[in-house]
Amino acid sequence: MARKPLIAGNWKMNNTIGEAVVLTQEISNRFEPDWSDTVDVALCPPFVDLKPAKTVLEFDKQHIAVGAQDVYWEEKGAYTGEISVGMLAEIGCAYCIVGHSERRGLFGETNEDVNKKAKALLAGHLAPIICVGESLAVRDEGTTDEFVCAQVRAAFAGIDENEAAKCVVAYEPIWAIGTGRTATPEQAQAVCAAIRETLKELYSQDTAEAMRILYGGSMNEGNAAILLAEPDIDGGLIGGASLKATSFIAIIEAALK
Ligand code: PGA
Repeated sequence: MARKPLIAGNWKMNNTIGEAVVLTQEISNRFEPDWSDTVDVALCPPFVDLKPAKTVLEFDKQHIAVGAQDVYWEEKGAYTGEISVGMLAEIGCAYCIVGHSERRGLFGETNEDVNKKAKALLAGHLAPIICVGESLAVRDEGTTDEFVCAQVRAAFAGIDENEAAKCVVAYEPIWAIGTGRTATPEQAQAVCAAIRETLKELYSQDTAEAMRILYGGSMNEGNAAILLAEPDIDGGLIGGASLKATSFIAIIEAALK
């Protein structure tokens, strides 16, 4: 089944509002409007940059979405420092990354937290981009598929098939993130295929075939085409290379082919 690829830029903790406006404008200027027929694109800047980035894209009438990098599952209340789904929805966010390995590793986010965040996002009509991925120790042990598929099962616990179909999964091997050490297309494809198999078991063949699975981890303009050519890789979650308009656009162009 032909799935529409998604190229999402994860800016992480980079770009002030001023810098975000400049980068969004540069991306918008280079983005050909008809590309959005073939590829979905999302920018995921820090919270404070969401509205300014969205405003630039709306002004330019570009079909480029914005997404957040995290969210809290409660609706409102005494949760100092947190941001709700409703706040993201009001800005017009279409996506939100959850369970990024940096949040799991640096901020103690658990599989259960990821599941609660995904459910809250779905209830608010935002599409979660659920990140999974193994450490180098897990890969060296030879248990990558088991580890990653367990993360997938935990993330989707209690989510029904209709809702699951709206989710995106991002496979991001931790050893490939920000290291310049990309997974080979064969390595990335093998895990993405195992994820799809898990989604098939959890839901159905049709739903699993319709869902998008992204690869992330040092994807750049030089390796995007070969990674995206793999049958179970439906796009990319791009960190470093999303911070330069020319590289990010080149990756989008690779997804058009
Ligand atoms: P990277 O980051 O492209 O800089 O490796 C990807 C990610 O962490 O989402």
